[in-house]
Amino acid sequence: MWPSFPSNILGLALLPLVLASPVQKRARGPWMALDTDFPDPSFVGDPNGGWYAFGTNGNGKTIQVASSPDFQKWTLLNKEALPTLGGWETNVNHWAPDVIRRNDGKYVMYYSGEAKSDPGHHCVGAAISQGTDPSGPYIPQPNPFACDLDNGGAIDPSGFLDKDGTRYVVYKVDGNSIGNGGDCNNSVAPIKPTPIMLQKVEEDGVTPVGSPVQILDRDDSDGPLVEAPNLILHQGIYFLFYSTHCYTDPKYDVRYATATSVAGPYTKTNTELFKTGQFGMTSPGGGTVSGAGDRLLLHSFCQPNVRCTYAANISIQGKTVTVL
Ligand SMILES: *[C@@H]1O[C@H](CO)[C@@H](O)[C@H](O)[C@H]1NC(C)=O
Ligand SMILES: *[C@@H]1O[C@H](CO)[C@@H](O)[C@H](O)[C@H]1NC(C)=O
Repeated sequence: MWPSFPSNILGLALLPLVLASPVQKRARGPWMALDTDFPDPSFVGDPNGGWYAFGTNGNGKTIQVASSPDFQKWTLLNKEALPTLGGWETNVNHWAPDVIRRNDGKYVMYYSGEAKSDPGHHCVGAAISQGTDPSGPYIPQPNPFACDLDNGGAIDPSGFLDKDGTRYVVYKVDGNSIGNGGDCNNSVAPIKPTPIMLQKVEEDGVTPVGSPVQILDRDDSDGPLVEAPNLILHQGIYFLFYSTHCYTDPKYDVRYATATSVAGPYTKTNTELFKTGQFGMTSPGGGTVSGAGDRLLLHSFCQPNVRCTYAANISIQGKTVTVL
C-alpha cells in the first residue's frame, strides 16, 4: 500500500552521473521531524534561535504545536495553541496554521476554520498570541480574516513580510469544495478555479489593506487544484511554493512559481520539488520555507491516513530551488 522506492537500483544507475558532475551532489533529502499525524506544517523562529512548528488538528488538539532547538530534532508539545475559537467557526476542521512574529514581539496565527454559516466550507481566521510565547495561547479575532464563501471559502493562509516592511497574507480560495465531484470534488467539468490570493495587511498582521489580488490559479497540469501557498523573497526573487492535485492522490506534490514583483505575474516552474517516490515520500505537500530560503517543513503519508512532518535543507540560486 505504501511502497518503498527502489533506491538501490536508481542509486547505482545514477552513480556515474553524480561522480562526473563537479557541483551536483546527491541530495540527502528530508528527515523525519514529527513521527505522528502533523499535517500542513508551518514554522516560526523565536528570538533565542529555537523553532516552533504548527500543524492541522490532530492528537486531540485544535491546532498542534511542536518545538525544536536546532530544526533537526523536533518534539510535539502537549499544548493547545488555540484554546478558544472565534464566534464564526465550528469546533472541527482547524487546518493549515501559519505563524508570523510581529514587530511588537507578539505572534499572529492564521488558520482555516469551518464556517458556522456554511458547514463544509471554511474561512481564514487570525489569532494573536496572548504574550510573547510563540507556542501560544492564541486568541482569535472576533471576525474571520477572509471567507469568500460564494467561491468555496478560504483556506491555507500564510504570512509574508516584504523587504520594505509591508506585510501580506496569501491564501487559497477553496473552489474545489463547490466542485462537481471526482478527485477532491473538482475533476468533473466545469472545473472550478482555486485561485491563490495575496492580501496586504497592516503592521498588526490582521487588518486587511485594500482588496486581495489573485497571483496564481490551477491549470490542467495541476489536477483539481493548487493550494498550500507559501511566499518568500530571496535575493530579489519572490518564490511562491504550493501544492497541486488532491492531497490523497500520489500526484500531490510541492512546486514553486517565481516573480520579480510581489503581486506577480508569477511564472510556474512546474518543478516537482517533492513528489511521491522521491526520498521515500508518499503524496508530499504543504511545504513551508523559512524566510532565508534555507530550510523547509512538509508532510508526507507515513502510514495510511497519517501525515507525518518532515524537515529538509534547501538551497536557492537565482530562480532555482534545490533540495540538499
Ligand atoms: C462537492 O461540491 C458540491 C457543491 O458543488 C457539494 O454539494 C458537495 O457536498 C461537495 N462534495 C464534497 C465531498 O465536498
Ligand atoms: C541540514 O543542515 C544542518 C545545518 O547545516 C546540518 O547539520 C544537517 O546535517 C543537514 N541535514 C541534512 C539531511 O542535509
